[in-house]
Amino acid sequence: MTDCAEIVFAGKSHKPAGTLVLLAAPGLVAGPTARAMGIGDFVRRAAELAGFTAKARSTLELIAPVGGDMQRTVLVGTGELANIGGDDWMRLGGAAMGALGKAKTATVLFERPDGRRLPNGAAADFALGMKLRAYTFDKYKPTAGRDDEPQRQRIAVSIVVADVTRARRAWTARAALAAGVLLARDLVNEPANVLGPTEFADRAKALTKVGAKVEVLDEHGVRKLGMNALLGVAQGSARPPRLVIMRWNGGRANDAPIAFVGKGVVFDTGGISIKPAQNMQDMKGDMAGAAAVTGLVHALAARKARVNVVGVIGIVENMPSATAQRPGDIVTAMSGRTIEIVNTDAEGRLVLADALAYTEDRFKPKIIVDLATLTGAIIVALGHHHAGLFATDDVLAAKLLAAGKATGERVWQMPLGNEYDRQIDSKFADVKNVGGRDAGAVTAAQFLKRFVKDTPWAHLDVAGTAMGSPQTEINRSWASGWGVRLLDRLVADNYER
Ligand code: BES
Ligand code: MN
Ligand code: ZN
Repeated sequence: MTDCAEIVFAGKSHKPAGTLVLLAAPGLVAGPTARAMGIGDFVRRAAELAGFTAKARSTLELIAPVGGDMQRTVLVGTGELANIGGDDWMRLGGAAMGALGKAKTATVLFERPDGRRLPNGAAADFALGMKLRAYTFDKYKPTAGRDDEPQRQRIAVSIVVADVTRARRAWTARAALAAGVLLARDLVNEPANVLGPTEFADRAKALTKVGAKVEVLDEHGVRKLGMNALLGVAQGSARPPRLVIMRWNGGRANDAPIAFVGKGVVFDTGGISIKPAQNMQDMKGDMAGAAAVTGLVHALAARKARVNVVGVIGIVENMPSATAQRPGDIVTAMSGRTIEIVNTDAEGRLVLADALAYTEDRFKPKIIVDLATLTGAIIVALGHHHAGLFATDDVLAAKLLAAGKATGERVWQMPLGNEYDRQIDSKFADVKNVGGRDAGAVTAAQFLKRFVKDTPWAHLDVAGTAMGSPQTEINRSWASGWGVRLLDRLVADNYER
């Protein structure tokens, strides 16, 4: 089970059950409702004895019945209330869920400890954080606990708010977003023996249930389009490739769409330029870009975003075999450009070259953003806290940087520039697929740029953020679902009518 928390909103008359969750600020351990319940003094004294100072996202568990059906109380520190903003409510929700451990029922008294009015959407953001934190990919390990966190049980949470209607309305959209993030995580966590190209395409096809239109092109369809760069990567695998086009049209009828493109390498062995065995298992996540695009389209469709979007994902498996592509091979991409394959492990850019050209040609989108676990070099440069951002358009880059700050899915801009072109010029073809050791993430982006004509375009190298990234309040899974929240925000703040 991966979606482990059922969340509902309730009014002040709701009778708390299970574990009671209270928000606490420095000096204000119990808010007005808790005081009205008559537990203010008890909570304040317990917090004092435990030395709990309500620092942001700190928690304290009090195992004592406070009346009714309640067994325990969990305090969640907000830190200084004056400083709360951005993604703080979501992170608080995550911290709260973390402290709930094995609880099966919980009631959150969602109020500012100082009793002041909460911003619109704060409760929904808190619920989003709870939902994301509760996610566990344990379908192949259903009974055993984990070291860092007890085995997650299904938990039913009631969030008590002042304005139930308002909270429920905001939650409809946030729940759609949560589902999109969890979908992306599920896809990335799934091993490659279970999730091959056809299985991935089937999961994408299921987006029709939320109202998206989904087209799946098989090997023949891809060949007819002349996608020989993508096909070259796929040819070593017994499992044929897929190109999936997901569309959600919630905008005006003739409005050009916003396009998202994802790298979907279900497993990257490196091909003939085979990778070392160490950590190769992580390459089951080499489709995280495509997973984020799928999760994003799910979220936008499920919340009926007022925008036209198209998501295009190229799904292949990169294997060494008798039919695999060789170093030295030359392929003609869909755009007509020839590519010399120098290293078969630089396969993501080959898949994207065709997916990007196709997306621009067919949809004439306003902008294109691609996501890809493209290079180890971006991890060397930025570690796991920022994704690399490369953009041909400063306005688009600024929008992505702003969305990153707002959501906590941060991006750091890296350069593009003609001066890097020499590194990928080929003796035999228009371009070669590797640019040497220096600036590996930049030359990869510079390669992609050659396959986009004049549409404002941004590339996000998510190799460091999409999987194996630091464990946070809102994520305890290997796959983070990185990018779904960022791009949902990009759309909401800039492209919805
Ligand atoms: N999928 C890898 C990049 C990657 C590495 C993602 C580690 C996540 C974690 C990509 O296909 C790759 O192999 N890139 C090569 C490029 C090189 C051959 C120019 C790399 O980064 O080493
Ligand atoms: Mn590779
Ligand atoms: Zn790869």
